[in-house]
Amino acid sequence: MSIANKLARAELIDMVPYQSARRLFSSAEASGEAKLWLNANEAPGTGAYQLSSDNINRYPDFQPDNLLNAYRDYCGLERSQILATRGADEGIELIIRSFCRAYQDSILICPPTYGMYAISAENHGAGIIKVPLVNTAQGMQLNLDELAKQVGKVKVVFLCSPGNPTGNLLPKEQIIAAIELFKESAIVVVDEAYIEYTGEFSPEQTSTSLLKEYDNVIVLRTLSKAFALAGLRCGFTLASSEVITLLSKVIAPYPISAPVAEIASLALSTDLDKMTQRVQDCNKIKTSLSAWLNEQDWCNEVFASDANFILFRCTSLSEKTRIFDLLVSNNILIRDQSKQMQLENCLRISIGSIQEITQLKEVLLGNLRP
Ligand SMILES: Cc1ncc(COP(=O)(O)O)c(C=O)c1O
Repeated sequence: MSIANKLARAELIDMVPYQSARRLFSSAEASGEAKLWLNANEAPGTGAYQLSSDNINRYPDFQPDNLLNAYRDYCGLERSQILATRGADEGIELIIRSFCRAYQDSILICPPTYGMYAISAENHGAGIIKVPLVNTAQGMQLNLDELAKQVGKVKVVFLCSPGNPTGNLLPKEQIIAAIELFKESAIVVVDEAYIEYTGEFSPEQTSTSLLKEYDNVIVLRTLSKAFALAGLRCGFTLASSEVITLLSKVIAPYPISAPVAEIASLALSTDLDKMTQRVQDCNKIKTSLSAWLNEQDWCNEVFASDANFILFRCTSLSEKTRIFDLLVSNNILIRDQSKQMQLENCLRISIGSIQEITQLKEVLLGNLRP
């Protein structure tokens, strides 16, 4: 047995890491071939940022001023309520490490949901309690009766709104009801990675407005989606200043590198119009792709989406496999979600550029027509 395996925490030996889109198909693997990347909910289009390396010999500030000011102006909260992190993923990890004692405390998730909540919990040795979403005519919703039964048994509850991979916003009254249920016993995290696709500052949509009223709420945000900066790794955790102080004790000493702060600040100050336009373009393409999918005889359910992707269910396992394999063989990568609870035969397409989505439709039409 290797020294690594002899000394490692035993549960890590067989643990399967998060199967991110880029681990399943790495960009190195694809070099030389033109692939359409429609599997990671990124935004299409390239960035054009100029970097200065003047101060690169110095450590960056713990929380760079220009970045925090830019996000404060964007989200309308106080600086003391914001923590910039390496993507929203780091926020998830910090929250679990800060509130859950390893091998004693648990988190609660509502599957089908974003995979990193469970992976981070597992990594840390926190338990995972699942209260599945319910598929209703109004979209995937919380099961409040079942949530109520878990009060006192968990430290952190993760809600994803808009949900990944489901796509829809959770009704605001359900989010409030969950926060009320866990008011005395757990932190409720509302993951808003895709919130810009629903109209960012509308108080009916974002849960940041709830931070005034409830001190057990945390909101997660990212620049990876609507800001088209997934490669930058920059996200934000929004909470009471007490929660931010706590998380700041757990985070690395220099979490945001100087180039990241520089690009992210520019994106949040000078490029807001571009972001808004990108979201509008995406939503238009999404609406028409959704209508098209509804017309296909191999598709029997298209989930409503408030995000930058569409989840749909194929009529059978063989149809799902055929569509996925056909696209892969044509260098078009989408995400198979069929292993998630309640998502048998489901695939997810990230909304790329109009050209990319047209190409995807052509491949499917050309090859699947009777
Ligand atoms: C719901 C959700 N939360 C968080 C993340 C992670 O975002 P980031 O790139 O900021 O780490 C993702 C990424 O796909 C996501 O879908």
